[in-house]
Amino acid sequence: MGIFKKKQVAESVDFSALPQHIAIILDGNGRWAKRRGLPRTAGHAVGSETFRKVATYCNDIGIKYLTVYAFSTENWKRPVEEVDTIMSLLEKYILEAIDEVRKKNLILKFWGSRDGLSERIKKLMDESEKESADMTGMQVNVCLNYGSRNEITNAVRLIAADVSEGRMKIEDITEAEIEKRLYSAGTPAPDLLIRPGGEMRLSNYLLWQTAYSEFVFSDKLWPDFDERELDRAIIEYQKRNRRFGGI
Ligand code: IPE
Ligand code: IPE
Ligand code: MG
Repeated sequence: MGIFKKKQVAESVDFSALPQHIAIILDGNGRWAKRRGLPRTAGHAVGSETFRKVATYCNDIGIKYLTVYAFSTENWKRPVEEVDTIMSLLEKYILEAIDEVRKKNLILKFWGSRDGLSERIKKLMDESEKESADMTGMQVNVCLNYGSRNEITNAVRLIAADVSEGRMKIEDITEAEIEKRLYSAGTPAPDLLIRPGGEMRLSNYLLWQTAYSEFVFSDKLWPDFDERELDRAIIEYQKRNRRFGGI
């Protein structure tokens, strides 16, 4: 009886010690659909709804930053119909998000390269970022056409240009100067990184930023992910001892 009680206490989220920044790799949509005999695209549609639900929950409990991996620089390798469906879903959700930004005081940002994206989606991205300018609530970073190697390569190029044009000296290249040139500039590093879908890899996500993040993997496919599963990840996070190289 005593043990049971103790376990119950340990299994609830401590809302006074939440991670301030949660990053999630939205993975498992295709497999979710295949298991149901549906086309992969059906999984993306349900996965988008899961994102809405989980983002709302994060906002309700007071998470400050939520960063999600929606489309990678490598995802262009997929069949064109699948890429098109993902892009249409993103368009639909960005359009709706513009309203949410106003209603819920959200800051919406996009991390990733704009190269290769349609004019329509780029316009919506600009609009929602503009709408976010005066907001002060939860910041949602959507990683779209994002690849961490691409992000770091861009930062290196920008620094090389600054050095070669005399605006910067080699001695001035610091970690902070690199960070300033990443999409994540100004955002604290993720405390907790969650990957649903069963794979245990980063897949080119936030390689620089997750140097000291706590990783939690979940076997649940993203469309099956929910508030309870997020709670479980936070509980797991709260059991970790973060040392950052110290003792
Ligand atoms: C994640 O789900 C969404 C994107 C990568 C765009 P997947 O489409 O990768 O689903 P699985 O991993 O194949 O099941
Ligand atoms: C990572 O998932 C990218 C996104 C979730 C957007 P992938 O499904 O593309 O990763 P791999 O191929 O399993 O490594
Ligand atoms: Mg996948």
